[in-house]
Amino acid sequence: MYLGIDLGTSELKALLLAPDHRVLAQAGRALQVSSPHPLWSEQAPADWEAALVGALDELAAKAPEAMGAVRAIGLAGQMHGAVALDTAMAPIRPAMLWNDQRSHDECLEIDSTCPQAPALAGNRAMPGFTAPKLLWMKHHEPELFARVALVLLPKDYLRLRLTGEAISDMSDASGTFWLDVGRRDWSDELLAASGMTRAQMPTLAEGSAVAGRLRAGWARRWGMGDDVMVAGGAGDNAASAVGMGIVRPGEGFLSLGTSGVIFRVTEGFAPNAAACIHAFCHALPESWHQMAVMLSAAASLRWVTRLTGHAHEADLLTEIAGLSPEARQNAPLFLPYLTGERTPHNSATAKGAFLGLSAHHGPAALGYAVLEGVGFGLRDGMLALGEAADTKEMLLVGGGSRSPFWSQMLADHLGVTLHLAESGEAAGALGAARLAWLADGGDAASICQRPAIHHSYVPQAEPPLERYARFRNAWPAASA
Ligand code: XUL
Repeated sequence: MYLGIDLGTSELKALLLAPDHRVLAQAGRALQVSSPHPLWSEQAPADWEAALVGALDELAAKAPEAMGAVRAIGLAGQMHGAVALDTAMAPIRPAMLWNDQRSHDECLEIDSTCPQAPALAGNRAMPGFTAPKLLWMKHHEPELFARVALVLLPKDYLRLRLTGEAISDMSDASGTFWLDVGRRDWSDELLAASGMTRAQMPTLAEGSAVAGRLRAGWARRWGMGDDVMVAGGAGDNAASAVGMGIVRPGEGFLSLGTSGVIFRVTEGFAPNAAACIHAFCHALPESWHQMAVMLSAAASLRWVTRLTGHAHEADLLTEIAGLSPEARQNAPLFLPYLTGERTPHNSATAKGAFLGLSAHHGPAALGYAVLEGVGFGLRDGMLALGEAADTKEMLLVGGGSRSPFWSQMLADHLGVTLHLAESGEAAGALGAARLAWLADGGDAASICQRPAIHHSYVPQAEPPLERYARFRNAWPAASA
Protein backbone atom coordinates (compact mmCIF):
# COMPACT_ATOMS: atom_id res chain seq x y z
CA MET A 1 0.00 0.00 0.00
CA TYR A 2 1.26 3.54 -0.80
CA LEU A 3 0.31 6.84 0.81
CA GLY A 4 0.30 9.99 -1.34
CA ILE A 5 0.16 13.46 0.21
CA ASP A 6 -0.35 16.67 -1.80
CA LEU A 7 0.10 19.95 0.06
CA GLY A 8 -1.95 22.30 -2.15
CA THR A 9 -2.56 25.99 -1.57
CA SER A 10 -6.23 25.67 -0.65
CA GLU A 11 -6.26 22.05 0.54
CA LEU A 12 -3.98 19.24 1.72
CA LYS A 13 -5.08 15.91 0.20
CA ALA A 14 -3.96 12.43 1.20
CA LEU A 15 -4.86 9.11 -0.41
CA LEU A 16 -4.09 5.42 -0.09
CA LEU A 17 -3.17 3.57 -3.29
CA ALA A 18 -3.38 -0.20 -3.53
CA PRO A 19 -1.01 -2.24 -5.76
CA ASP A 20 -3.96 -2.94 -8.10
CA HIS A 21 -4.09 0.86 -8.78
CA ARG A 22 -7.32 1.37 -6.78
CA VAL A 23 -7.56 4.45 -4.54
CA LEU A 24 -8.83 2.94 -1.28
CA ALA A 25 -9.44 6.02 0.84
CA GLN A 26 -8.91 9.77 0.73
CA ALA A 27 -8.92 12.60 3.25
CA GLY A 28 -8.37 16.34 2.98
CA ARG A 29 -8.05 19.47 5.09
CA ALA A 30 -8.70 23.04 3.88
CA LEU A 31 -5.94 25.66 4.12
CA GLN A 32 -6.20 29.44 4.21
CA VAL A 33 -3.84 31.96 2.60
CA SER A 34 -2.99 35.20 4.36
CA SER A 35 -2.19 38.40 2.49
CA PRO A 36 -1.25 40.98 5.14
CA HIS A 37 -0.04 43.45 2.49
CA PRO A 38 -0.70 43.89 -1.24
CA LEU A 39 1.39 41.40 -3.27
CA TRP A 40 2.05 39.19 -0.21
CA SER A 41 0.82 35.58 0.01
CA GLU A 42 1.76 33.55 3.08
CA GLN A 43 0.92 30.44 5.09
CA ALA A 44 2.22 29.23 8.44
CA PRO A 45 4.14 25.92 8.16
CA ALA A 46 2.47 24.88 11.44
CA ASP A 47 -0.90 24.99 9.62
CA TRP A 48 0.43 22.58 6.98
CA GLU A 49 1.53 20.19 9.69
CA ALA A 50 -1.84 20.44 11.46
CA ALA A 51 -3.61 19.71 8.13
CA LEU A 52 -1.32 16.72 7.52
CA VAL A 53 -1.88 15.26 10.97
CA GLY A 54 -5.66 15.82 10.68
CA ALA A 55 -5.85 14.11 7.29
CA LEU A 56 -3.67 11.14 8.29
CA ASP A 57 -5.50 10.70 11.61
CA GLU A 58 -8.69 10.50 9.52
CA LEU A 59 -7.21 7.94 7.12
CA ALA A 60 -5.94 5.87 10.06
CA ALA A 61 -9.46 5.87 11.53
CA LYS A 62 -11.20 5.16 8.18
CA ALA A 63 -8.82 2.56 6.77
CA PRO A 64 -6.67 1.19 9.63
CA GLU A 65 -5.70 -2.01 7.80
CA ALA A 66 -4.58 -0.18 4.69
CA MET A 67 -2.60 2.32 6.80
CA GLY A 68 -0.94 -0.58 8.58
CA ALA A 69 0.12 -2.00 5.19
CA VAL A 70 1.75 1.22 3.89
CA ARG A 71 5.29 0.55 2.67
CA ALA A 72 6.15 4.03 1.42
CA ILE A 73 4.89 7.61 1.47
CA GLY A 74 5.16 10.13 -1.38
CA LEU A 75 5.05 13.91 -0.95
CA ALA A 76 3.85 16.45 -3.50
CA GLY A 77 3.16 20.11 -2.94
CA GLN A 78 2.70 23.68 -4.04
CA MET A 79 6.01 24.74 -5.56
CA HIS A 80 8.45 27.62 -4.98
CA GLY A 81 7.40 28.60 -1.41
CA ALA A 82 10.22 29.72 0.91
CA VAL A 83 10.31 28.09 4.34
CA ALA A 84 13.24 29.74 6.15
CA LEU A 85 14.44 27.76 9.17
CA ASP A 86 16.88 28.58 11.98
CA THR A 87 19.52 26.25 13.43
CA ALA A 88 16.86 24.62 15.63
CA MET A 89 14.89 23.86 12.40
CA ALA A 90 12.08 26.21 13.49
CA PRO A 91 10.40 28.50 10.90
CA ILE A 92 11.77 32.04 11.20
CA ARG A 93 8.71 33.68 9.57
CA PRO A 94 5.57 32.58 7.70
CA ALA A 95 6.30 30.85 4.39
CA MET A 96 6.18 33.11 1.31
CA LEU A 97 4.19 31.26 -1.35
CA TRP A 98 4.43 30.70 -5.11
CA ASN A 99 1.94 33.50 -5.82
CA ASP A 100 3.66 36.03 -3.55
CA GLN A 101 4.80 38.93 -5.73
CA ARG A 102 6.74 41.15 -3.32
CA SER A 103 10.19 40.32 -4.70
CA HIS A 104 9.85 41.98 -8.09
CA ASP A 105 12.80 44.37 -7.48
CA GLU A 106 14.95 41.49 -6.29
CA CYS A 107 14.38 39.71 -9.64
CA LEU A 108 15.68 42.80 -11.43
CA GLU A 109 18.66 42.81 -9.06
CA ILE A 110 19.45 39.16 -9.89
CA ASP A 111 19.14 39.98 -13.61
CA SER A 112 21.70 42.76 -13.29
CA THR A 113 24.18 41.18 -10.85
CA CYS A 114 24.09 37.74 -12.50
CA PRO A 115 23.31 38.22 -16.22
CA GLN A 116 24.15 34.57 -16.86
CA ALA A 117 21.38 33.46 -14.44
CA PRO A 118 18.71 32.62 -17.07
CA ALA A 119 21.25 30.51 -18.98
CA LEU A 120 22.30 28.69 -15.78
CA ALA A 121 18.79 28.14 -14.47
CA GLY A 122 17.10 27.68 -17.85
CA ASN A 123 14.43 30.06 -16.55
CA ARG A 124 13.80 33.75 -15.95
CA ALA A 125 13.98 35.04 -12.36
CA MET A 126 10.33 35.52 -11.36
CA PRO A 127 8.97 36.76 -8.03
CA GLY A 128 7.15 33.48 -7.50
CA PHE A 129 10.44 31.58 -7.35
CA THR A 130 12.26 30.99 -4.06
CA ALA A 131 15.59 32.80 -4.63
CA PRO A 132 14.26 36.38 -4.95
CA LYS A 133 12.18 35.84 -1.78
CA LEU A 134 15.35 35.20 0.25
CA LEU A 135 16.98 38.26 -1.32
CA TRP A 136 13.88 40.23 -0.26
CA MET A 137 14.42 38.97 3.31
CA LYS A 138 18.04 40.02 3.11
CA HIS A 139 17.00 43.57 2.20
CA HIS A 140 13.86 43.97 4.32
CA GLU A 141 14.31 41.61 7.28
CA PRO A 142 18.12 41.49 7.73
CA GLU A 143 17.96 40.23 11.34
CA LEU A 144 15.74 37.34 10.25
CA PHE A 145 17.84 36.66 7.15
CA ALA A 146 20.98 36.41 9.30
CA ARG A 147 19.35 33.49 11.17
CA VAL A 148 18.55 31.40 8.06
CA ALA A 149 20.27 28.03 8.46
CA LEU A 150 18.19 26.12 5.88
CA VAL A 151 15.55 26.89 3.24
CA LEU A 152 12.98 24.23 2.40
CA LEU A 153 10.13 24.01 -0.08
CA PRO A 154 6.64 23.47 1.41
CA LYS A 155 6.35 19.69 0.97
CA ASP A 156 9.96 19.27 2.14
CA TYR A 157 9.05 21.01 5.40
CA LEU A 158 6.51 18.21 5.91
CA ARG A 159 9.25 15.68 5.14
CA LEU A 160 11.45 17.32 7.80
CA ARG A 161 8.64 16.94 10.33
CA LEU A 162 7.88 13.35 9.28
CA THR A 163 11.45 12.06 8.98
CA GLY A 164 13.86 14.59 10.51
CA GLU A 165 15.67 14.80 7.13
CA ALA A 166 16.30 17.90 4.99
CA ILE A 167 15.91 16.60 1.42
CA SER A 168 14.30 17.98 -1.74
CA ASP A 169 13.57 16.39 -5.10
CA MET A 170 14.71 17.63 -8.53
CA SER A 171 11.34 18.79 -9.89
CA ASP A 172 10.51 20.99 -6.91
CA ALA A 173 14.12 22.18 -6.53
CA SER A 174 13.92 23.40 -10.17
CA GLY A 175 11.49 26.10 -9.03
CA THR A 176 13.90 27.66 -6.53
CA PHE A 177 16.09 29.40 -9.15
CA TRP A 178 19.06 27.90 -7.29
CA LEU A 179 19.22 24.71 -9.34
CA ASP A 180 21.27 24.13 -12.46
CA VAL A 181 18.28 22.38 -14.02
CA GLY A 182 20.22 20.79 -16.89
CA ARG A 183 22.80 19.25 -14.49
CA ARG A 184 20.32 18.44 -11.69
CA ASP A 185 22.53 20.01 -9.01
CA TRP A 186 22.59 23.21 -6.95
CA SER A 187 24.42 26.06 -8.71
CA ASP A 188 26.87 27.94 -6.47
CA GLU A 189 26.66 30.91 -8.81
CA LEU A 190 22.86 31.12 -8.65
CA LEU A 191 22.96 30.67 -4.86
CA ALA A 192 25.47 33.51 -4.54
CA ALA A 193 23.23 35.79 -6.64
CA SER A 194 20.72 35.84 -3.76
CA GLY A 195 23.24 35.78 -0.92
CA MET A 196 22.88 32.04 -0.20
CA THR A 197 25.24 29.07 0.00
CA ARG A 198 24.99 25.33 -0.63
CA ALA A 199 25.18 24.77 3.15
CA GLN A 200 21.70 26.30 3.44
CA MET A 201 20.23 23.88 0.91
CA PRO A 202 18.69 20.44 1.53
CA THR A 203 20.25 17.32 0.00
CA LEU A 204 18.89 16.51 -3.48
CA ALA A 205 17.18 13.24 -4.47
CA GLU A 206 15.27 12.02 -7.53
CA GLY A 207 11.50 11.99 -7.02
CA SER A 208 11.32 8.22 -7.29
CA ALA A 209 14.24 7.56 -4.87
CA VAL A 210 14.08 6.89 -1.13
CA ALA A 211 14.47 10.22 0.70
CA GLY A 212 13.89 9.61 4.40
CA ARG A 213 12.13 7.14 6.73
CA LEU A 214 9.06 7.84 8.83
CA ARG A 215 9.86 8.57 12.49
CA ALA A 216 8.71 5.95 14.98
CA GLY A 217 6.35 8.30 16.85
CA TRP A 218 4.29 9.04 13.72
CA ALA A 219 4.32 5.37 12.67
CA ARG A 220 2.85 4.39 16.05
CA ARG A 221 0.24 7.17 15.89
CA TRP A 222 -1.02 6.02 12.48
CA GLY A 223 -0.65 2.27 13.07
CA MET A 224 2.10 1.92 10.46
CA GLY A 225 5.11 -0.42 10.38
CA ASP A 226 8.54 0.51 11.64
CA ASP A 227 10.31 0.88 8.28
CA VAL A 228 8.13 3.13 6.13
CA MET A 229 10.11 4.89 3.38
CA VAL A 230 9.45 8.43 2.20
CA ALA A 231 10.11 9.02 -1.52
CA GLY A 232 11.66 12.19 -2.94
CA GLY A 233 8.25 13.12 -4.33
CA ALA A 234 7.68 16.13 -6.60
CA GLY A 235 6.35 19.62 -7.07
CA ASP A 236 2.58 19.40 -7.50
CA ASN A 237 2.66 19.75 -11.29
CA ALA A 238 5.26 17.05 -11.92
CA ALA A 239 3.45 14.84 -9.40
CA SER A 240 0.14 15.35 -11.23
CA ALA A 241 1.89 14.33 -14.44
CA VAL A 242 3.09 11.09 -12.85
CA GLY A 243 -0.43 10.52 -11.49
CA MET A 244 -1.91 10.93 -14.98
CA GLY A 245 0.77 8.85 -16.73
CA ILE A 246 2.27 11.92 -18.44
CA VAL A 247 5.89 10.74 -18.58
CA ARG A 248 6.78 10.45 -22.29
CA PRO A 249 7.98 13.40 -24.45
CA GLY A 250 5.08 15.23 -26.11
CA GLU A 251 2.48 14.21 -23.51
CA GLY A 252 0.83 16.97 -21.53
CA PHE A 253 -1.95 18.15 -19.26
CA LEU A 254 -3.84 21.26 -18.33
CA SER A 255 -4.25 21.91 -14.61
CA LEU A 256 -7.11 24.15 -13.47
CA GLY A 257 -6.21 24.66 -9.83
CA THR A 258 -5.65 27.92 -7.95
CA SER A 259 -3.02 28.42 -10.68
CA GLY A 260 -3.49 27.34 -14.30
CA VAL A 261 -0.74 25.25 -15.83
CA ILE A 262 -0.10 23.79 -19.26
CA PHE A 263 2.51 21.07 -18.76
CA ARG A 264 4.30 18.98 -21.33
CA VAL A 265 7.15 16.51 -21.14
CA THR A 266 10.09 17.52 -23.33
CA GLU A 267 12.76 15.62 -25.22
CA GLY A 268 15.61 16.42 -22.76
CA PHE A 269 16.12 19.79 -21.03
CA ALA A 270 14.45 22.44 -23.21
CA PRO A 271 14.83 25.97 -21.83
CA ASN A 272 12.80 28.83 -23.34
CA ALA A 273 13.31 31.59 -20.78
CA ALA A 274 12.64 34.37 -23.30
CA ALA A 275 8.99 33.26 -23.59
CA CYS A 276 8.63 33.04 -19.76
CA ILE A 277 8.25 29.27 -20.06
CA HIS A 278 9.35 27.20 -17.08
CA ALA A 279 11.84 24.44 -17.99
CA PHE A 280 12.11 22.10 -14.99
CA CYS A 281 13.25 18.58 -14.10
CA HIS A 282 10.49 15.98 -14.22
CA ALA A 283 9.96 13.68 -11.25
CA LEU A 284 11.65 10.72 -12.95
CA PRO A 285 15.44 10.55 -13.52
CA GLU A 286 16.83 12.03 -16.76
CA SER A 287 13.51 13.57 -17.66
CA TRP A 288 12.47 17.23 -18.02
CA HIS A 289 9.33 19.22 -18.76
CA GLN A 290 8.08 22.68 -19.67
CA MET A 291 5.20 24.65 -18.16
CA ALA A 292 3.25 27.77 -19.03
CA VAL A 293 1.93 29.08 -15.70
CA MET A 294 -0.91 31.53 -15.07
CA LEU A 295 -1.25 32.68 -11.48
CA SER A 296 -5.03 33.08 -10.98
CA ALA A 297 -7.09 30.39 -12.73
CA ALA A 298 -9.60 28.74 -10.37
CA ALA A 299 -8.55 31.54 -7.97
CA SER A 300 -10.31 34.00 -10.33
CA LEU A 301 -13.50 31.92 -10.25
CA ARG A 302 -13.33 31.79 -6.43
CA TRP A 303 -12.90 35.55 -6.36
CA VAL A 304 -15.90 36.34 -8.63
CA THR A 305 -18.04 33.82 -6.73
CA ARG A 306 -17.45 35.76 -3.50
CA LEU A 307 -17.76 39.11 -5.25
CA THR A 308 -21.22 38.26 -6.61
CA GLY A 309 -22.41 37.00 -3.22
CA HIS A 310 -22.67 33.31 -4.14
CA ALA A 311 -21.99 30.73 -1.45
CA HIS A 312 -20.62 28.13 -3.86
CA GLU A 313 -18.90 28.25 -7.23
CA ALA A 314 -21.39 25.65 -8.50
CA ASP A 315 -24.28 28.13 -7.98
CA LEU A 316 -22.63 30.79 -10.10
CA LEU A 317 -21.61 28.22 -12.73
CA THR A 318 -25.25 27.15 -13.09
CA GLU A 319 -26.28 30.76 -13.76
CA ILE A 320 -23.42 31.19 -16.25
CA ALA A 321 -24.44 28.08 -18.18
CA GLY A 322 -27.95 29.55 -18.53
CA LEU A 323 -26.74 32.65 -20.45
CA SER A 324 -27.97 32.92 -24.06
CA PRO A 325 -25.39 32.95 -26.90
CA GLU A 326 -26.18 36.65 -27.36
CA ALA A 327 -25.56 37.41 -23.67
CA ARG A 328 -22.21 35.59 -23.90
CA GLN A 329 -21.23 37.58 -26.96
CA ASN A 330 -22.10 40.81 -25.13
CA ALA A 331 -20.48 39.90 -21.81
CA PRO A 332 -17.64 42.11 -20.57
CA LEU A 333 -14.05 40.98 -21.03
CA PHE A 334 -11.98 39.99 -18.00
CA LEU A 335 -8.21 40.27 -17.57
CA PRO A 336 -7.24 37.54 -15.06
CA TYR A 337 -4.19 39.24 -13.52
CA LEU A 338 -5.53 39.42 -9.95
CA THR A 339 -2.11 38.44 -8.55
CA GLY A 340 0.09 39.51 -11.48
CA GLU A 341 1.09 37.01 -14.17
CA ARG A 342 3.93 34.68 -15.14
CA THR A 343 3.57 33.23 -18.69
CA PRO A 344 3.74 35.04 -21.06
CA HIS A 345 4.12 38.42 -19.34
CA ASN A 346 6.27 37.92 -16.20
CA SER A 347 4.72 40.90 -14.43
CA ALA A 348 4.28 41.12 -10.67
CA THR A 349 2.32 44.34 -10.91
CA ALA A 350 -0.19 43.53 -13.68
CA LYS A 351 -3.75 44.06 -12.51
CA GLY A 352 -7.05 42.40 -13.35
CA ALA A 353 -9.91 44.29 -15.03
CA PHE A 354 -13.44 44.02 -16.39
CA LEU A 355 -13.74 45.83 -19.73
CA GLY A 356 -16.96 46.90 -21.38
CA LEU A 357 -19.30 46.80 -18.38
CA SER A 358 -22.87 48.01 -18.81
CA ALA A 359 -25.84 48.38 -16.46
CA HIS A 360 -27.33 45.24 -18.07
CA HIS A 361 -24.57 42.98 -16.83
CA GLY A 362 -25.35 40.82 -13.82
CA PRO A 363 -23.41 38.18 -11.85
CA ALA A 364 -23.70 35.57 -14.63
CA ALA A 365 -22.16 37.89 -17.23
CA LEU A 366 -19.28 38.72 -14.87
CA GLY A 367 -18.79 35.04 -14.13
CA TYR A 368 -18.81 34.19 -17.83
CA ALA A 369 -16.20 36.88 -18.47
CA VAL A 370 -13.97 35.38 -15.76
CA LEU A 371 -14.15 31.83 -17.18
CA GLU A 372 -13.43 33.18 -20.64
CA GLY A 373 -10.59 35.47 -19.45
CA VAL A 374 -8.87 32.52 -17.79
CA GLY A 375 -9.32 30.59 -21.06
CA PHE A 376 -7.71 33.46 -23.01
CA GLY A 377 -4.81 33.60 -20.53
CA LEU A 378 -4.28 29.86 -21.01
CA ARG A 379 -4.40 30.33 -24.79
CA ASP A 380 -1.58 32.88 -24.38
CA GLY A 381 0.36 30.26 -22.42
CA MET A 382 -0.27 27.63 -25.09
CA LEU A 383 1.02 29.94 -27.82
CA ALA A 384 4.10 30.78 -25.71
CA LEU A 385 4.90 27.07 -25.55
CA GLY A 386 5.36 27.24 -29.32
CA GLU A 387 5.20 23.87 -30.98
CA ALA A 388 2.98 22.64 -28.15
CA ALA A 389 0.32 24.73 -29.88
CA ASP A 390 0.18 21.77 -32.29
CA THR A 391 -0.91 19.50 -29.43
CA LYS A 392 -4.24 17.89 -30.18
CA GLU A 393 -5.06 16.33 -26.81
CA MET A 394 -4.24 16.78 -23.14
CA LEU A 395 -5.53 15.51 -19.83
CA LEU A 396 -7.48 17.95 -17.69
CA VAL A 397 -6.84 17.95 -13.92
CA GLY A 398 -7.56 20.14 -10.89
CA GLY A 399 -10.69 21.41 -9.13
CA GLY A 400 -11.82 23.58 -12.08
CA SER A 401 -12.36 20.40 -14.12
CA ARG A 402 -15.50 19.78 -12.02
CA SER A 403 -17.29 22.27 -14.30
CA PRO A 404 -18.34 20.69 -17.63
CA PHE A 405 -19.20 24.17 -18.96
CA TRP A 406 -15.72 25.56 -18.26
CA SER A 407 -13.99 22.40 -19.49
CA GLN A 408 -15.83 22.57 -22.84
CA MET A 409 -15.05 26.28 -23.13
CA LEU A 410 -11.34 25.57 -22.62
CA ALA A 411 -11.35 22.76 -25.20
CA ASP A 412 -12.85 25.29 -27.67
CA HIS A 413 -10.45 28.11 -26.75
CA LEU A 414 -7.34 25.95 -26.95
CA GLY A 415 -8.51 23.83 -29.89
CA VAL A 416 -7.48 20.73 -27.95
CA THR A 417 -9.42 17.65 -26.84
CA LEU A 418 -9.35 17.58 -23.03
CA HIS A 419 -9.67 14.18 -21.38
CA LEU A 420 -11.09 13.92 -17.89
CA ALA A 421 -9.45 10.97 -16.15
CA GLU A 422 -10.32 9.00 -13.05
CA SER A 423 -8.74 10.66 -9.96
CA GLY A 424 -7.90 13.77 -12.03
CA GLU A 425 -8.96 16.03 -9.16
CA ALA A 426 -6.44 14.34 -6.87
CA ALA A 427 -3.76 13.86 -9.55
CA GLY A 428 -0.97 15.32 -7.37
CA ALA A 429 -1.66 13.00 -4.42
CA LEU A 430 -1.98 10.03 -6.79
CA GLY A 431 1.35 10.93 -8.42
CA ALA A 432 2.94 11.21 -4.98
CA ALA A 433 1.68 7.73 -4.09
CA ARG A 434 3.04 6.39 -7.39
CA LEU A 435 6.47 7.92 -6.65
CA ALA A 436 6.37 6.13 -3.28
CA TRP A 437 5.64 2.89 -5.15
CA LEU A 438 8.62 3.53 -7.47
CA ALA A 439 10.86 4.19 -4.44
CA ASP A 440 9.76 0.76 -3.19
CA GLY A 441 11.22 -0.79 -6.35
CA GLY A 442 8.20 -0.61 -8.67
CA ASP A 443 8.60 -0.42 -12.44
CA ALA A 444 7.88 2.99 -14.03
CA ALA A 445 6.24 1.67 -17.20
CA SER A 446 3.64 -0.35 -15.33
CA ILE A 447 3.05 2.16 -12.49
CA CYS A 448 2.84 5.39 -14.53
CA GLN A 449 -0.20 4.29 -16.55
CA ARG A 450 -2.91 6.55 -17.90
CA PRO A 451 -5.94 6.26 -15.62
CA ALA A 452 -9.29 5.44 -17.25
CA ILE A 453 -10.80 8.37 -19.20
CA HIS A 454 -14.31 9.32 -17.98
CA HIS A 455 -15.17 11.89 -20.55
CA SER A 456 -13.52 13.80 -23.40
CA TYR A 457 -14.25 17.42 -24.26
CA VAL A 458 -13.77 17.66 -28.03
CA PRO A 459 -13.55 21.20 -29.51
CA GLN A 460 -17.03 22.03 -30.84
CA ALA A 461 -16.75 25.69 -31.71
CA GLU A 462 -14.08 28.02 -33.07
CA PRO A 463 -12.36 30.12 -30.39
CA PRO A 464 -13.94 33.61 -30.22
CA LEU A 465 -11.02 35.25 -32.00
CA GLU A 466 -12.47 38.74 -32.12
CA ARG A 467 -12.94 38.78 -28.33
CA TYR A 468 -9.47 37.23 -27.89
CA ALA A 469 -7.92 40.01 -30.01
CA ARG A 470 -9.59 42.64 -27.78
CA PHE A 471 -8.28 40.75 -24.72
CA ARG A 472 -4.73 40.84 -26.13
CA ASN A 473 -4.97 44.52 -27.02
CA ALA A 474 -6.00 45.35 -23.44
CA TRP A 475 -2.67 44.14 -21.96
CA PRO A 476 -1.06 47.61 -21.88
CA ALA A 477 -3.91 48.81 -19.64
CA ALA A 478 -3.45 45.83 -17.28
CA SER A 479 0.26 46.47 -16.95
CA ALA A 480 0.15 50.28 -16.77
C1 XUL B 1 4.03 26.35 -10.75
C2 XUL B 1 3.29 27.11 -9.69
C3 XUL B 1 1.99 26.62 -9.25
C4 XUL B 1 2.07 25.99 -7.91
C5 XUL B 1 0.67 25.72 -7.41
O1 XUL B 1 5.16 27.00 -11.19
O2 XUL B 1 3.75 28.10 -9.19
O3 XUL B 1 1.40 25.77 -10.18
O4 XUL B 1 2.88 24.84 -7.96
O5 XUL B 1 0.62 24.84 -6.38
